[in-house]
Amino acid sequence: ELELHPPHYPWAHKGFLSSLDHASIRRGYEVYRQVCAACHSMEQLAYRHLVDVAYTEEEMKAIASEAQIEDGPDDDGNMFTRPGKLSDSFPKPYPNEQAARAANAGAYPPDLSLITSARHGGEALVVRRLDNGCKDYVFSILTGYTDPPAGVEVKDDLYYNPYFPGQNIAMAPALYNEIIEYEDGTPATVSQLAKDVCTFLKWAAEPEHDDRKRMGMKAMTILGFLTFASYYYKRHKWSVLK
Ligand code: HEM
Repeated sequence: ELELHPPHYPWAHKGFLSSLDHASIRRGYEVYRQVCAACHSMEQLAYRHLVDVAYTEEEMKAIASEAQIEDGPDDDGNMFTRPGKLSDSFPKPYPNEQAARAANAGAYPPDLSLITSARHGGEALVVRRLDNGCKDYVFSILTGYTDPPAGVEVKDDLYYNPYFPGQNIAMAPALYNEIIEYEDGTPATVSQLAKDVCTFLKWAAEPEHDDRKRMGMKAMTILGFLTFASYYYKRHKWSVLK
């Protein structure tokens, strides 16, 4: 079975010293929260993680408080729900895998915490399909839905997507133009939505991305200076002995 190989897209953070686009992370979280979170968990993320990354603490508290989080047991041994707090993990859409499969024609919507990351062991399925460029793959899946070519059958309850192995995917097209309205007024086209959610997922899987590049810059600067200084020192010391 051959699937289309996703192209390499020119992500803003690809450069040697380029940081992630934080306005895009913020928009991408809007997409995740309003679209993907209906079916996909992100178990490794908590609301507080986005503070100072894409939101202020006040903004994030307000967003968290819109969620109803199951808590308990209370003093009487009962479970209860309460508004979310910064320390809460993102809520899961389904209580367990069986419930998730029952709602999705038997298929399991994978947790998206590490979906764009090959490095961290990642979501096994996706990573096995692609050794690198997992953002390119997710972007391609999200934007790649199309009618099947003439004569190609699509199985019941599945959708045609040339980037998905087997071309029959259980995820219905999740993105449409203007499916959400961005707070910053950016036109919410399918490709914009997909780009932003992939940038958000990239940040989620690799939150140390910017620090890593900043440390790299510092290390190069200091090493460069030391190289120059030791060269000068050596010339200076040896100048009398020539
Ligand atoms: C699978 C991303 C929205 C249901 C997937 C996969 C990714 C993904 C990366 C894995 C594909 C693979 O295994 O290679 C997203 C993103 C979404 C989104 C970024 C939001 C923009 C949704 C929604 C639903 C859904 C709203 C439910 C209505 C599923 C299901 C699968 C899946 C059932 C498993 C597909 C299969 O194995 O055939 N999604 N998804 N997704 N998603 Fe989504």
